[in-house]
Amino acid sequence: MRSLSIQVPRTERSSRLWAGRGLIEQVPSLVPVGDYSSVAVVADAGAHEACSRLFAALPQTCSRCLVLDGGERNKDINGLGRVWQFFVEQGLDRRSLVVTVGGGALSDLVGFAAATFMRGIALLHIPTTLLAQVDASIGGKTGVNFMGIKNLLGAVMQPAGVVIDIDALASLPPRELCSGFAEILKHGLIQDAPYFELTSSRPFSAWSPEELVEVVFRSCEIKRSVVEADETEQGPRKTLNFGHTIGHAVEGYALEHGIPLTHGEAVAIGMVGEALISWRSGRISEGEFLAVRAGIGRAGLPVSLPTPFPVAELRQLLARDKKNIGSQVRWVLLDRIGACSFDLSVPEALVVEALTAIQANCP
Ligand code: GLY
Repeated sequence: MRSLSIQVPRTERSSRLWAGRGLIEQVPSLVPVGDYSSVAVVADAGAHEACSRLFAALPQTCSRCLVLDGGERNKDINGLGRVWQFFVEQGLDRRSLVVTVGGGALSDLVGFAAATFMRGIALLHIPTTLLAQVDASIGGKTGVNFMGIKNLLGAVMQPAGVVIDIDALASLPPRELCSGFAEILKHGLIQDAPYFELTSSRPFSAWSPEELVEVVFRSCEIKRSVVEADETEQGPRKTLNFGHTIGHAVEGYALEHGIPLTHGEAVAIGMVGEALISWRSGRISEGEFLAVRAGIGRAGLPVSLPTPFPVAELRQLLARDKKNIGSQVRWVLLDRIGACSFDLSVPEALVVEALTAIQANCP
């Protein structure tokens, strides 16, 4: 088992994170559940196996559970109301603990409910998708979608703990694993060249659970360093958006047109596009760009779009990115493999070149 703590300047208490195998059964010995006045669990409908394992391990007095369809579609005001109502019905108070078991959409929703209930009650995440394990459960971002805009309402509240059990990934479909792996590759690209080399050396599906513990833990360390430096994304936390500017535009277009494309696939293609901009604006060499693209492909992630996506429409979607300042798109670009800069402007012609280069069958 590996563990670390995350300490942000704003809060006195640090968050504790554990990563390993069979950790769900160990929750009562890792987390002092008896110190809380009550414990309430909110679980993803798809995480029933992890949830049963948790309930078998928890003392009987902790047997309150709300099961939700934790998908992105339910991460809204209505879902939030259901979680708050559950908290009230369970009589939670300021010394209660809320436990989430599921993916990132669930931890965003329930995290926001916990951050706002009685101005904030303690939270423990048990992420059951790779994406939630290496990204959503770490760093305290919570939120819900509003009026069709992703995460428009939100708060930052660090969880008391995060228990990452790699065994929870056993039943995940490969495309679901792929989403998390894109973030893992991103962590290497923005901060740790040997880690990118390692994680892009073979298909993401070829890692054993023991190896995944080490990989996931390294990603958690990288994310910790970013969050500790900048909890509220005023500066270096923006580097976590590498690949996500083009990635979100591509994901948005796919969603609107019913084209199956996971978040991870979109981010992988976005990282190729943004590495290309890094090369063409003179920040990295052509050789480095080719190494990034080849590594992403070797890991089993796509390096181009599955069908042609109109460049003009992608351009419009980029203009609507939540991270823009006014109408200016702000980019994260590589300075080399393992280092990057943020808040950069890119000439229009280069953006069009990148959006053209990621089209299907582009050489
Ligand atoms: N998912 C990016 C972040 O936590 O900042």
